[in-house]
Amino acid sequence: MYDIQSIREQMLAKLEGVSTEREIADLKSTMFGKSGTVTGLMRELKDLPPDQKPRAGKEINDLRVELSAACDVKEKALHRAAIERTLAADEIDLTIDKPVRSVGAEHPLNQIRNKLTDYFVGNGYIVYDSPEIETDYYNFQALNIPPDHPARDMQDTFFLGNGLLLRSQTSCGQVRLMEKVKPPLKMICPGRVFRNDDDSSHSPVFHQMEGLVVDKNVTLCDLKGALDGFAKFIFGEKTRIRFRPSYFPFTEPSVEVDVSCFNCGGDGCRVCKNTGWIEILGAGMVNRKVLENCGIDPDVYHGFAFGVGLDRIAMIQCAIDDIKHLWENDVRFLRQFAKGE
Ligand code: PHE
Repeated sequence: MYDIQSIREQMLAKLEGVSTEREIADLKSTMFGKSGTVTGLMRELKDLPPDQKPRAGKEINDLRVELSAACDVKEKALHRAAIERTLAADEIDLTIDKPVRSVGAEHPLNQIRNKLTDYFVGNGYIVYDSPEIETDYYNFQALNIPPDHPARDMQDTFFLGNGLLLRSQTSCGQVRLMEKVKPPLKMICPGRVFRNDDDSSHSPVFHQMEGLVVDKNVTLCDLKGALDGFAKFIFGEKTRIRFRPSYFPFTEPSVEVDVSCFNCGGDGCRVCKNTGWIEILGAGMVNRKVLENCGIDPDVYHGFAFGVGLDRIAMIQCAIDDIKHLWENDVRFLRQFAKGE
């Protein structure tokens, strides 16, 4: 009474014709839904005479299992085809040749500053940022340079009026920090400084990095050790340093520090103007007057300070004889010093 065979063929034929996921969902509900064909067969089973029930029941169940498996197979195939269609539509040709966009690189001055910063931070120094616009007090007086002191002539200062000026040295950072933080302290203070000076080796805006260490029992030996390590880190392991006596009002004694020429190793060449040495910074033991000005007892604490000219180091390392190259931003110049471009 049930032509299972023809229902089976009919359903499989329909399944054959299905071509979208939507259609298969519909077809499944016409088979297995509430009023679906297979569901209907199952429902009518109960009206059969008892002797036919077992056989019919098995046939209907076999049909259900077969159709449902066939649907699953078809469904998976359609789903995969849909994914493949989407992928094909979104395909990107990674082999297409496009012009390379050039990436920025660190300016030589920033390379030097970052390298020095790495060195000193690695040795326990903090990085301190101090204002570029200063008062006469922080740039001069607190650093033991009273009004009318001849040492002011060394730094052709830009005065802004109202008692303000553009700092001529990062040494102001020493005073600002020592007013706030009591020893022991170790800091570097990198930044721009300004002087009315303009020739091939001087620019009205240039860069310094101040260093300051204050603690009990700090000596000139500690200064030499710190600067020796720094010189070797920047210019290479074979580098030696030497101290020459000098004068700064805020350090006593004061020294000018030279490094052995990284180019000729000390024999004399164009880079070191045949002297074998290159001057790179000023330094000394913090003058007790400066400590006093900051409320630190000079009988208990001692310190050393140094000020490195970053432009000078950049000029030496880039082998240029005009500081303007560091400012002009000519990419042909800068590109030579870009790392990893
Ligand atoms: N501030 C000095 C200068 O600009 C350098 C310096 C710093 C010297 C710290 C001694 C100690 O010339």
